[in-house]
Amino acid sequence: MREDLIKLLRDLRKTISLYKEIDLIPPLSPETESFFKGETELEKAYLDSINNLDELRKYLNGCIKCKLHKNRKNIVFGEGNPNAELVFVGEAPGRKEDIEGRPFVGEAGRLFTRIIKAMGLERKDVYICNVVKCRPPRNRDPEPDEIKACFPFLEAQLRIISPKVICTLGRIAAQTLLGKDFKITKQRGNWYSYKDIPVMPTFHPAYLLRNPSEKKLVWEDMKKIMEKLGLNAGTNKNTQ
Ligand code: URA
Repeated sequence: MREDLIKLLRDLRKTISLYKEIDLIPPLSPETESFFKGETELEKAYLDSINNLDELRKYLNGCIKCKLHKNRKNIVFGEGNPNAELVFVGEAPGRKEDIEGRPFVGEAGRLFTRIIKAMGLERKDVYICNVVKCRPPRNRDPEPDEIKACFPFLEAQLRIISPKVICTLGRIAAQTLLGKDFKITKQRGNWYSYKDIPVMPTFHPAYLLRNPSEKKLVWEDMKKIMEKLGLNAGTNKNTQ
């Protein structure tokens, strides 16, 4: 019954969107418009009631809440340990991520995977996701309306996983969780909090590809995370 309702909600949104795109329906009432954008109490209540990542992933399937759905090949929901103590939050999928439907699998992803290994962990030990789940055209920054539309899904992921530490990668992820005035260059490397979960903001791996000399700063930040989680580089068998 519950599954049927979710499917109905999703299909209805998709149909409205198609008709809107070809101007086949008159302007929607404000209530229907906000239903279409997923801003209703109904969606909020439903998301709040989800307590596993698979159900959340299903709900996201076919999402058309923002314009990024138009060019995406795949939604990049996130992957890793659903009980992870450490969640990494990136910005948005790039070209390779869009094709594979997995986060951080391109060039920046390879560097990022090496950082995780240097911490004595594997990708499957942690959880990896992004602020927006669909690729922005030409890898531009996600726009405020796109971040706003996708935020309830990140919020739900973090609530469900309930990690001990969140590490934000880059400016967009830090500003999304810590406020729009966050200055990544000045403020990274210090502890902040999101809903009582400690947050360590650090540079984005793509930035490190362009500025390799900054890698040592990111390693300092990773060491703070390892200390908080009681991890030792190279000796962790933390596969849960
Ligand atoms: N950059 C991101 O922020 N996320 C990805 O998944 C890939 C590159």
